[in-house]
Amino acid sequence: MNYRTAAKADLYPSSPVAAPTAHATRIRLWDLPVRIFHWSLVIAVLVAFVTAKLGGDWMDWHGRAGLAIVGLVTFRLVWGIVGSTHARFLSFAPTPARLRAYLTGRWHGIGHNPLGALSVFGLLGLLAVQAGTGLFSNDDIAFDGPLSSLVEKARSDSLTGLHHQLSDVLLVLLGLHILAIVFYLVVKRHNLIKPMVTGWKHAQGRVAPAPKTRGGSPLGLVIALLVAAAVTYAASGKLLHQPPPAPAPAAAPAASPPPTTYSSTPGW
Ligand code: HEM
Ligand code: HEM
Repeated sequence: MNYRTAAKADLYPSSPVAAPTAHATRIRLWDLPVRIFHWSLVIAVLVAFVTAKLGGDWMDWHGRAGLAIVGLVTFRLVWGIVGSTHARFLSFAPTPARLRAYLTGRWHGIGHNPLGALSVFGLLGLLAVQAGTGLFSNDDIAFDGPLSSLVEKARSDSLTGLHHQLSDVLLVLLGLHILAIVFYLVVKRHNLIKPMVTGWKHAQGRVAPAPKTRGGSPLGLVIALLVAAAVTYAASGKLLHQPPPAPAPAAAPAASPPPTTYSSTPGW
C-alpha cells in the first residue's frame, strides 16, 4: 500500500481500502529526532517556568531556556515537513473527516489521534508565541528579552503582559496534555509514553494497515537543524548592532564615581 492509500485508509477507516487488521503489529512510530525533540522540550519548558518563578539572576537561564525552546519548536516545524511518515503534520492533521471518524469510534489510525493532534498543534503554536513574546519582554529591573530594543518601551510592556497571560494558558494546556496521557494509561490501558521513549508501538486489535515509515533522511535532518540554528541565532539578538566597547578610562582620579554604563542583556 502506498502512502496515499494509507492516508485514505486513515481518513475512511470503514472503507474497503481501510479494512483494519486484527493482527498484533510492531510499528516504527516516532523517529529519534521527534523523541529527542519531545524530551528536550519537556526539560526546557520546566527550566523556563522554574527560573521565571525564581527570578533575579535566574532570569539569564530563563532567557537561555526560552531560546532553546525557539530552536526546538523551529526544528519541529521543519521536521513536520521533511521528517519521517508519522512525524509529518499532514499525516496527523486533524481534518473534520478524521475528527468525525474519531468521535464516532471509526478512527483506527496510528500516531497522534485527531483530538491529540489538535493539542499538539495548540502546544506548538502557543510555545512559539510564548517564546516570541518573551524575546521582546522586559522585567523593568535588570532583564530584557534580546530583541526588546527593537520595539518601543510601551510595546515591550504590552508584550510582557501577554507573555504573563499566555504562560497561564500554556500551563492549562500542559495540564490537559499530561492528564490525557494518564487517562490513556490508567483508564484505556494504552501506554503512549513507551513509544515516545523507544520509538516502537505494539498495536493490538483493529488498526488500519500501517504505511511503511519513510522520509526523515539525513539531508532533511541537516536542513531542519540548520534552520533551527539560524532562527535561534537571530532570536538571540546577536545580529543586532552592538554598541562599540567604551574606551578604557585614562588614569582616573582616586575619588571618581563608579562607571555608570550598565547592560541588562546577559551574554546569551
Ligand atoms: C516558552 C518559553 C517561555 C515560558 C514558558 C516563559 C514563562 C514565563 C513566565 C511564567 C514568566 C512570569 C514570571 C513571573 O511570575 O513573574 C515569564 C517572565 C519573563 N520572561 Fe519568559 N517564558 C518563556 C520564554 C521567554 C523568552 C524566550 C524570553 C526572552 C529571552 C523571556 C523573557 C521573559 C522576561 C523578560 C520576563 C519578565 C517579565 C516581568 O517580570 O514582568 N521568556 N516568562
Ligand atoms: C513541559 C511539558 C511537555 C510539553 C511541552 C510536551 C509537548 C508535547 C508535544 C509538542 C508533543 C507532540 C510530539 C510531536 O509530534 O512532535 C507531545 C506528545 C507527547 N507527549 Fe508531551 N509534553 C510535555 C510533557 C509530557 C510528559 C510529562 C509526558 C509523559 C508523562 C508526555 C508524553 C507525551 C506523549 C506520550 C506524547 C505522544 C502522544 C501521542 O501518542 O499522541 N509529555 N508532547
